Amino acid sequence: MTLLNRVEETVAYIHTKTEMKPETAIVLGSGLGQLGEKLEDAVVIPYEELPHWKSSTAPGHSGRLLFGKLGGKQVVCMQGRLHYYEGYSMEDITYPVRVMAKLGVKNLLLSNAAGGINTDFAPGQLMLITDHINFLGRNPLMGPNEADFGVRFCDMSYAYHPELRRIALEAAEELGQNLAQGIYVATTGPSYETPAEIRMFRLWGASAVGMSTVPEVIVANHCGLRVMGISCITNMAAGVLDQPLTEEEVLETGAKSGAAFQALMTRIVEKL
Ligand code: HPA
Repeated sequence: MTLLNRVEETVAYIHTKTEMKPETAIVLGSGLGQLGEKLEDAVVIPYEELPHWKSSTAPGHSGRLLFGKLGGKQVVCMQGRLHYYEGYSMEDITYPVRVMAKLGVKNLLLSNAAGGINTDFAPGQLMLITDHINFLGRNPLMGPNEADFGVRFCDMSYAYHPELRRIALEAAEELGQNLAQGIYVATTGPSYETPAEIRMFRLWGASAVGMSTVPEVIVANHCGLRVMGISCITNMAAGVLDQPLTEEEVLETGAKSGAAFQALMTRIVEKL
Protein backbone atom coordinates (compact mmCIF):
# COMPACT_ATOMS: atom_id res chain seq x y z
CA MET A 1 0.00 0.00 0.00
CA THR A 2 1.43 3.40 -0.93
CA LEU A 3 1.65 6.29 1.50
CA LEU A 4 -1.04 8.06 -0.53
CA ASN A 5 -3.36 5.03 -0.23
CA ARG A 6 -2.89 4.95 3.54
CA VAL A 7 -3.53 8.69 3.84
CA GLU A 8 -6.67 8.31 1.70
CA GLU A 9 -7.92 5.55 4.02
CA THR A 10 -7.47 7.82 7.04
CA VAL A 11 -9.22 10.68 5.24
CA ALA A 12 -12.11 8.36 4.28
CA TYR A 13 -12.48 7.27 7.93
CA ILE A 14 -12.55 10.91 9.06
CA HIS A 15 -15.27 11.63 6.49
CA THR A 16 -17.46 8.95 8.14
CA LYS A 17 -17.27 11.04 11.36
CA THR A 18 -17.58 14.61 10.08
CA GLU A 19 -18.37 16.52 6.91
CA MET A 20 -16.35 19.52 8.04
CA LYS A 21 -13.75 20.81 5.56
CA PRO A 22 -11.52 23.08 7.65
CA GLU A 23 -8.89 25.22 5.94
CA THR A 24 -6.87 25.52 9.12
CA ALA A 25 -5.21 22.87 11.28
CA ILE A 26 -3.78 23.51 14.73
CA VAL A 27 -1.28 21.29 16.52
CA LEU A 28 -1.26 21.73 20.29
CA GLY A 29 2.05 21.11 22.03
CA SER A 30 2.96 19.96 25.54
CA GLY A 31 0.68 21.48 28.16
CA LEU A 32 -1.14 23.58 25.52
CA GLY A 33 -3.97 21.14 24.81
CA GLN A 34 -6.58 23.23 26.66
CA LEU A 35 -7.38 25.20 23.50
CA GLY A 36 -9.03 22.04 22.18
CA GLU A 37 -11.71 22.37 24.88
CA LYS A 38 -12.66 25.77 23.39
CA LEU A 39 -13.84 24.34 20.06
CA GLU A 40 -17.57 24.69 19.48
CA ASP A 41 -19.65 21.79 18.13
CA ALA A 42 -16.61 19.55 18.44
CA VAL A 43 -16.36 16.14 16.83
CA VAL A 44 -13.74 14.11 18.70
CA ILE A 45 -11.75 11.27 17.16
CA PRO A 46 -9.20 9.49 19.41
CA TYR A 47 -5.96 8.75 17.55
CA GLU A 48 -6.42 5.03 18.34
CA GLU A 49 -9.47 4.96 16.04
CA LEU A 50 -7.70 6.46 13.04
CA PRO A 51 -6.26 3.97 10.54
CA HIS A 52 -2.44 4.18 10.17
CA TRP A 53 -2.23 7.01 12.75
CA LYS A 54 0.01 6.36 15.78
CA SER A 55 -1.06 6.99 19.38
CA SER A 56 0.32 9.78 21.59
CA THR A 57 2.42 8.47 24.47
CA ALA A 58 4.03 11.73 25.64
CA PRO A 59 3.01 13.42 28.93
CA GLY A 60 0.63 16.35 28.43
CA HIS A 61 -0.59 15.01 25.05
CA SER A 62 -4.09 13.59 25.09
CA GLY A 63 -4.08 12.12 21.59
CA ARG A 64 -7.37 13.31 20.10
CA LEU A 65 -8.23 14.81 16.74
CA LEU A 66 -10.91 17.49 17.11
CA PHE A 67 -13.04 19.14 14.45
CA GLY A 68 -14.99 22.22 15.47
CA LYS A 69 -15.29 25.99 15.33
CA LEU A 70 -12.79 28.48 16.72
CA GLY A 71 -12.98 32.23 16.16
CA GLY A 72 -15.97 31.62 13.89
CA LYS A 73 -14.01 29.32 11.56
CA GLN A 74 -13.90 25.57 11.10
CA VAL A 75 -10.63 24.11 12.34
CA VAL A 76 -9.14 20.70 12.89
CA CYS A 77 -7.06 20.44 16.00
CA MET A 78 -4.50 17.85 17.08
CA GLN A 79 -4.69 17.70 20.85
CA GLY A 80 -1.29 16.15 21.33
CA ARG A 81 1.35 15.29 18.76
CA LEU A 82 3.73 12.45 17.99
CA HIS A 83 7.45 12.78 18.72
CA TYR A 84 10.55 11.12 17.31
CA TYR A 85 11.69 10.31 20.89
CA GLU A 86 8.61 8.12 21.36
CA GLY A 87 10.37 5.67 19.06
CA TYR A 88 8.20 6.42 16.04
CA SER A 89 9.68 6.89 12.58
CA MET A 90 9.87 10.28 10.90
CA GLU A 91 7.15 9.06 8.54
CA ASP A 92 4.86 8.15 11.47
CA ILE A 93 5.23 11.48 13.27
CA THR A 94 4.57 13.50 10.12
CA TYR A 95 1.73 11.27 8.87
CA PRO A 96 -0.93 13.57 10.39
CA VAL A 97 0.40 16.50 8.34
CA ARG A 98 -0.10 14.54 5.12
CA VAL A 99 -3.64 13.67 6.23
CA MET A 100 -4.32 17.36 6.89
CA ALA A 101 -3.07 18.24 3.40
CA LYS A 102 -5.33 15.65 1.74
CA LEU A 103 -8.26 16.81 3.90
CA GLY A 104 -7.92 20.14 2.11
CA VAL A 105 -6.25 22.09 4.91
CA LYS A 106 -4.29 25.16 3.71
CA ASN A 107 -2.84 26.59 6.95
CA LEU A 108 -0.98 24.62 9.59
CA LEU A 109 -0.59 26.41 12.93
CA LEU A 110 1.90 24.57 15.15
CA SER A 111 2.66 25.11 18.80
CA ASN A 112 5.17 23.62 21.19
CA ALA A 113 6.75 23.90 24.60
CA ALA A 114 10.37 24.99 24.33
CA GLY A 115 13.36 25.90 26.44
CA GLY A 116 14.52 29.52 26.30
CA ILE A 117 18.04 29.96 24.91
CA ASN A 118 17.71 33.73 24.51
CA THR A 119 18.55 35.06 27.98
CA ASP A 120 16.11 37.97 27.51
CA PHE A 121 13.28 35.43 27.77
CA ALA A 122 11.54 34.29 30.95
CA PRO A 123 9.25 31.27 31.36
CA GLY A 124 5.80 32.05 29.97
CA GLN A 125 7.15 34.05 27.01
CA LEU A 126 5.46 33.26 23.69
CA MET A 127 7.75 33.22 20.64
CA LEU A 128 6.79 33.31 16.98
CA ILE A 129 9.11 30.97 15.10
CA THR A 130 10.81 32.81 12.24
CA ASP A 131 13.00 29.91 11.08
CA HIS A 132 14.42 26.66 12.39
CA ILE A 133 17.57 24.57 12.68
CA ASN A 134 17.12 20.84 12.12
CA PHE A 135 19.46 19.20 14.66
CA LEU A 136 17.62 15.85 14.52
CA GLY A 137 20.16 14.19 12.26
CA ARG A 138 17.32 13.06 10.00
CA ASN A 139 14.91 14.56 7.52
CA PRO A 140 11.36 13.20 7.15
CA LEU A 141 11.62 13.45 3.34
CA MET A 142 14.52 10.94 3.18
CA GLY A 143 13.78 7.87 1.09
CA PRO A 144 11.99 7.76 -2.26
CA ASN A 145 10.25 11.05 -3.00
CA GLU A 146 6.50 10.91 -2.35
CA ALA A 147 5.63 12.63 -5.61
CA ASP A 148 1.88 12.47 -4.77
CA PHE A 149 2.65 15.12 -2.18
CA GLY A 150 5.53 17.24 -3.42
CA VAL A 151 8.90 17.63 -5.10
CA ARG A 152 12.22 15.89 -4.34
CA PHE A 153 14.11 18.99 -3.21
CA CYS A 154 11.68 20.99 -1.15
CA ASP A 155 12.39 24.72 -0.79
CA MET A 156 12.61 25.88 2.84
CA SER A 157 13.35 29.57 2.20
CA TYR A 158 9.94 30.63 3.55
CA ALA A 159 9.22 27.61 5.76
CA TYR A 160 7.32 29.83 8.22
CA HIS A 161 4.99 31.69 5.90
CA PRO A 162 5.62 35.48 5.86
CA GLU A 163 1.89 36.30 5.60
CA LEU A 164 0.99 34.08 8.57
CA ARG A 165 3.84 35.61 10.58
CA ARG A 166 2.51 39.07 9.76
CA ILE A 167 -0.97 38.03 10.89
CA ALA A 168 0.40 36.56 14.14
CA LEU A 169 2.31 39.76 14.99
CA GLU A 170 -0.75 41.87 14.20
CA ALA A 171 -2.95 39.62 16.37
CA ALA A 172 -0.50 39.91 19.30
CA GLU A 173 -0.40 43.69 18.94
CA GLU A 174 -4.20 43.93 18.92
CA LEU A 175 -4.29 41.86 22.12
CA GLY A 176 -1.50 43.92 23.72
CA GLN A 177 0.60 40.77 24.01
CA ASN A 178 4.37 40.58 23.94
CA LEU A 179 5.13 38.08 21.16
CA ALA A 180 8.88 37.54 20.72
CA GLN A 181 10.39 36.22 17.50
CA GLY A 182 13.21 33.76 17.07
CA ILE A 183 14.79 30.66 15.64
CA TYR A 184 13.78 27.24 16.98
CA VAL A 185 16.29 24.40 17.08
CA ALA A 186 15.01 20.82 17.26
CA THR A 187 16.78 18.06 19.18
CA THR A 188 15.55 14.46 19.34
CA GLY A 189 15.32 14.34 23.13
CA PRO A 190 14.13 12.74 25.28
CA SER A 191 17.02 13.90 27.47
CA TYR A 192 17.18 17.65 27.76
CA GLU A 193 20.25 19.36 26.31
CA THR A 194 23.53 19.91 28.11
CA PRO A 195 24.65 23.46 28.99
CA ALA A 196 27.43 23.09 26.37
CA GLU A 197 24.88 22.24 23.67
CA ILE A 198 22.78 25.24 24.67
CA ARG A 199 25.82 27.56 24.42
CA MET A 200 26.49 26.15 20.93
CA PHE A 201 22.87 26.69 19.87
CA ARG A 202 23.04 30.28 21.14
CA LEU A 203 26.13 30.89 18.98
CA TRP A 204 24.17 29.48 16.03
CA GLY A 205 21.53 32.13 16.58
CA ALA A 206 18.79 29.95 18.08
CA SER A 207 16.43 31.45 20.66
CA ALA A 208 14.48 28.34 21.68
CA VAL A 209 14.98 24.57 21.76
CA GLY A 210 12.49 21.74 21.66
CA MET A 211 11.85 18.15 20.63
CA SER A 212 9.20 18.56 17.94
CA THR A 213 7.75 20.74 15.18
CA VAL A 214 10.64 20.67 12.67
CA PRO A 215 9.66 17.33 11.00
CA GLU A 216 6.06 18.54 10.65
CA VAL A 217 7.20 21.86 9.19
CA ILE A 218 9.36 20.11 6.59
CA VAL A 219 6.56 17.78 5.49
CA ALA A 220 4.01 20.62 5.52
CA ASN A 221 6.24 22.63 3.19
CA HIS A 222 6.61 19.55 0.97
CA CYS A 223 2.79 19.34 0.80
CA GLY A 224 2.46 23.05 0.00
CA LEU A 225 0.81 24.08 3.28
CA ARG A 226 1.29 27.52 4.77
CA VAL A 227 2.97 27.10 8.18
CA MET A 228 3.08 29.17 11.34
CA GLY A 229 4.73 28.14 14.62
CA ILE A 230 4.50 29.46 18.16
CA SER A 231 6.75 28.29 21.00
CA CYS A 232 5.73 28.65 24.59
CA ILE A 233 8.95 29.13 26.56
CA THR A 234 8.21 26.86 29.51
CA ASN A 235 11.66 26.98 31.12
CA MET A 236 15.06 28.49 30.57
CA ALA A 237 17.27 26.01 28.67
CA ALA A 238 19.92 23.98 30.46
CA GLY A 239 22.70 25.99 32.09
CA VAL A 240 20.98 29.38 31.76
CA LEU A 241 19.95 29.16 35.41
CA ASP A 242 21.81 27.19 38.06
CA GLN A 243 19.01 24.66 38.53
CA PRO A 244 17.88 21.37 36.96
CA LEU A 245 15.12 21.12 34.34
CA THR A 246 11.94 19.21 35.14
CA GLU A 247 9.01 17.95 33.13
CA GLU A 248 6.67 19.36 35.82
CA GLU A 249 7.99 22.89 35.19
CA VAL A 250 7.38 22.46 31.46
CA LEU A 251 3.77 21.32 31.88
CA GLU A 252 2.99 23.85 34.64
CA THR A 253 4.29 26.85 32.68
CA GLY A 254 2.46 25.58 29.58
CA ALA A 255 -0.76 25.52 31.56
CA LYS A 256 -0.07 28.99 33.08
CA SER A 257 0.55 30.58 29.67
CA GLY A 258 -2.54 28.78 28.41
CA ALA A 259 -4.86 31.79 28.53
CA ALA A 260 -2.52 34.08 26.57
CA PHE A 261 -1.74 31.31 24.08
CA GLN A 262 -5.42 30.51 23.55
CA ALA A 263 -6.34 34.16 23.06
CA LEU A 264 -3.53 34.60 20.54
CA MET A 265 -4.36 31.46 18.53
CA THR A 266 -8.05 32.34 18.47
CA ARG A 267 -7.32 35.85 17.21
CA ILE A 268 -4.96 34.50 14.55
CA VAL A 269 -7.63 32.08 13.30
CA GLU A 270 -10.18 34.92 13.18
CA LYS A 271 -7.82 36.92 10.98
CA LEU A 272 -7.01 34.15 8.50
N1 HPA B 1 14.62 21.48 25.88
C1 HPA B 1 14.02 20.72 24.96
N2 HPA B 1 12.70 20.61 24.84
C2 HPA B 1 11.95 21.33 25.69
C3 HPA B 1 12.51 22.15 26.68
C4 HPA B 1 13.92 22.23 26.76
O1 HPA B 1 14.49 22.94 27.62
N3 HPA B 1 11.47 22.72 27.35
C5 HPA B 1 10.33 22.26 26.77
N4 HPA B 1 10.62 21.42 25.78
